Amino acid sequence: MENKIAKKPSATDGLSRVDGRLKVTGKAKYSAEYNTKGMVYAVLAGSTITSGSIKSIDTKKAESAPGVISVITYLNAPKVPGYQDTPAGAKGTLKIFYDEKIYFNGQPVAMVLADTFERAQFASGLIDVTYNKTPFETQLTKNLDKGVSPHNAKDYLRGQEDAYKTAPVKIEQEYLLPTNVHNPMELHAIIANWDGDDKVTVYDKTQGVVSTQRNIAQAFKLQPANVQVTAPFVGGAFGAALRTWPHEIAAVMAAKLLKKPVKLVLSRADMFTAVGYRPHTWQKIGLGATADGKLVGISHQATGQTSVYEDFTEGVVNISQLMYACPNVDTKYRLASLNVNTPTPMRGPGEATGAIALECGMDELAHALNIDPIELRLRNYADTDPLTGKPYSSKFLSDAYKLGADAIGWSKRNAQPGTVLENGWLSGYGMASGMFGAYRGAATVIARLLADGTLDVQTAVTDIGPGTGTFMTKIASDVMGIPARDIRVKIGDSSLPPSPTQGGSAITSTVGSAVNDACVQLKQKLKELSGNVEGGSGGYAQILQQHNLPAVEVTVTSKGGPDMAKYAMYSWSVHFMKVLVHPTTGVVKVDKAVSVADCGTIVSQKTARSQIIGGTIMGTGMGLTEAVVIDHRYGRLVNNDFANYHVPVQADIPQCEALFVNKPDPYINPMGAKGMGEIATIGVAAALANAVFNATGKRVRDLPITPDKLV
Ligand code: MOS
Repeated sequence: MENKIAKKPSATDGLSRVDGRLKVTGKAKYSAEYNTKGMVYAVLAGSTITSGSIKSIDTKKAESAPGVISVITYLNAPKVPGYQDTPAGAKGTLKIFYDEKIYFNGQPVAMVLADTFERAQFASGLIDVTYNKTPFETQLTKNLDKGVSPHNAKDYLRGQEDAYKTAPVKIEQEYLLPTNVHNPMELHAIIANWDGDDKVTVYDKTQGVVSTQRNIAQAFKLQPANVQVTAPFVGGAFGAALRTWPHEIAAVMAAKLLKKPVKLVLSRADMFTAVGYRPHTWQKIGLGATADGKLVGISHQATGQTSVYEDFTEGVVNISQLMYACPNVDTKYRLASLNVNTPTPMRGPGEATGAIALECGMDELAHALNIDPIELRLRNYADTDPLTGKPYSSKFLSDAYKLGADAIGWSKRNAQPGTVLENGWLSGYGMASGMFGAYRGAATVIARLLADGTLDVQTAVTDIGPGTGTFMTKIASDVMGIPARDIRVKIGDSSLPPSPTQGGSAITSTVGSAVNDACVQLKQKLKELSGNVEGGSGGYAQILQQHNLPAVEVTVTSKGGPDMAKYAMYSWSVHFMKVLVHPTTGVVKVDKAVSVADCGTIVSQKTARSQIIGGTIMGTGMGLTEAVVIDHRYGRLVNNDFANYHVPVQADIPQCEALFVNKPDPYINPMGAKGMGEIATIGVAAALANAVFNATGKRVRDLPITPDKLV
């Protein structure tokens, strides 16, 4: 397969984010900003108990408050026809305003609709609800024994179970990750507007306009074509907008009832209970090795929390089946149902959690063996996929180790922990790896050349932040020889040709391939029209003018071929951290972070760098600052705001370097590019914990590593 883009430098190599100016000047319009005439504002009111049922709801005071148009509860909510497809009480999506049952604290019990947001918010405090309370459980660590094996995550065994116990050198440790919340800057928001009874338009924060269209159509029994979903800009999502959530159904329901456009913007507090999170997870890892550092066995168990009404599973233990060459591996994954809302994928779902146990475990093993942590990984390097035995489509992780070690100054690391002082701070280095499946799905793209020589490239895909429009522009420009300024990308619209939901680090591979293939076919079509004119806006314009054509277009669907099954496809990363720990206060500062990605060809240099830096910052939150705190006496969240749930920012990591192996994968797609969104975060928290150990000699296995755990 050709790797044109990887091999020769092009004019677009330094291309800036094509929508960057729109974003920083406030001209990029987000879902909450599509204000229409006669708009009604919705505010949710949540349950103040954690389990039980509603005894009574009195909405009279709220209904007579100024500006209030209606209050919706389960007593008067219009039927959502799709809700009848599954029986009440069945494990599944939370059916909003469906019956009197309460499963978690904060579950929406009412929605106030008013002529202004402020009036809706005021009235939402005037609803009187009484409840029948039943006992509840919100604490994972007290319910580990109740974990059940989910149907879609079977126990795994390769070789002998618990073989690590027979090894000459072994470690066995438990790790805890608290609940992390995506908390994108943009709050989830939807504006719904019906046209009669069978057509609805929504402006919605979503990672996939096509899946939102399908889900709303299913819920309200509409033709998908009669549901228009628009999301040209999304202000971050990280997995939180992969699903169509109950609040979206509620807004569509209310707009139908009132026959008016309804806008619902979640509050920051709602973001903790209405749209999912990375689940609180307990893990236990056992690693055993020969004295010269060859792995004998890996045993990895995990129990994650889910809600009582729905199972959410993720591949927490899968990384232990895949990362290293090891003859004996056993993994077990369990779910504990608690009175909390359902978790959802969050950047690096599964692997980001699992990498904490595996990669901190490898660091503990390296220390026990007195072998350098990188050297230990190299001694157990997998050259073929340990799970399937298939060859890798590409793997240059060893190059990544080297690049990162050089950039962080690994040779300066003292293997003896707690021994290096720098200006009164303990200094230490740590590293950890990450991996995630590399995918390619199907997407359809229109490429249309206009008579003025400019190019339209269009597909339904949304851009949740990584810079989808930018790589689409770059690929189109490189194939067509048309300058980036003459290319218009249109995305985030369900009426455009279908693209998958943006998630799983698959969009550059999937949509990029479709853009590539569409442009190759368009170029061919233009060549057939006039064989003697080559590329560039001027040349193409001439062809169209000669033939008196207003436009030439192609619509191309592209997907992976048989190589997808022949090879094991993964992206790899390694994260290096240098930390400073204050010996008296326990404050941890990231002195320098270096993350290296081995994810094939880097298509768009600037946005790729931003993606890796963002992932490092997110992983730093996992490692050092982020944790949802529940008061288990009441089952209620106590830190559901930015003042108390601490999300790190770039200023917390002043030196943050992103490096790339940048060698093409010959089998995955025409660009040779694999995903990088997930691997940017997977392994970061482990690298931090390992660096903190090197600095202090203290192993903190209960994240985040807050100062109190180090003094
Ligand atoms: Mo993601 S968790 O691939 O949105």
